[in-house]
Amino acid sequence: MALFKSSTRIIPDVPAVPRHIAIIMDGNGRWAKQRFMPRVMGHQRGVETVREVVKACREMGVEYLTLFAFSSENWRRPAEEVSFLMQLFLKMLEREVGKLHENNICLKVIGDRSRFDAQLVGYIEQAEQLTAANTSLTLTIAANYGGRWDIMQAMHALSQAHPERATAFEEEELDPYLSMHYAPEPDLFIRTGGEQRISNFLLWQLAYTELYFTDVLWPAFGRKELEAAIASYQKRERRFGRTSEQLKGESGA
Ligand code: IPE
Ligand code: IPE
Ligand code: MG
Repeated sequence: MALFKSSTRIIPDVPAVPRHIAIIMDGNGRWAKQRFMPRVMGHQRGVETVREVVKACREMGVEYLTLFAFSSENWRRPAEEVSFLMQLFLKMLEREVGKLHENNICLKVIGDRSRFDAQLVGYIEQAEQLTAANTSLTLTIAANYGGRWDIMQAMHALSQAHPERATAFEEEELDPYLSMHYAPEPDLFIRTGGEQRISNFLLWQLAYTELYFTDVLWPAFGRKELEAAIASYQKRERRFGRTSEQLKGESGA
């Protein structure tokens, strides 16, 4: 797999519209609680926001959209909530994959699948195969994903591939083994729900990503809020370690 513009190895292009947006969809439970509804109703409603944001990204020419749906730490939640989320994921795959395919969207799922039941794994594989050649948008769902898990599994796979070299790997050698090897690093990270933390999302890939935090809860997020996040991104100066003077004096690198 090609080396994909590592922000620490080369200075990446700075697209006006982010090529890759990564989102922590947070605040479902609080949204429901504010309405005196059970938390899971917030997750249900959050699916509608997913639809709206996918559509908006496709229309705006975003190439990669990565959504954090379930973290490796979310198993710590009450069993009923975990089971509801798994069922919801299964239903989403069942109902929405046809539409994604019609819209030329490529679906990928990243995360540790070993804790998912066989039916869910089967649906994921089918959906990925069906949509593999699609080109309008690559939608990645991070499910049972953790940034530390990702780095560890990639390191493990890399060392398995080169048993003779116990150490002395280069940074770019790890890249093909990371879950998001097929995508450029995110240009823009969005977290809804007011918390200002990464919560073990794409630790490696967020090295030079512009971070945007909003208090809006995920079920209340929509195209308007997405546009506000992109407008904020467009005002940033992405220096990648250089000085502001360098950027103003030179056109490219
Ligand atoms: C995000 O919403 C969805 C998942 C983590 C699955 P939350 O469920 O974390 O909602 P809050 O943060 O409790 O409001
Ligand atoms: C992060 O949200 C994970 C997802 C949105 C899937 P959490 O609600 O789990 O994060 P913390 O616990 O507040 O950090
Ligand atoms: Mg939360």
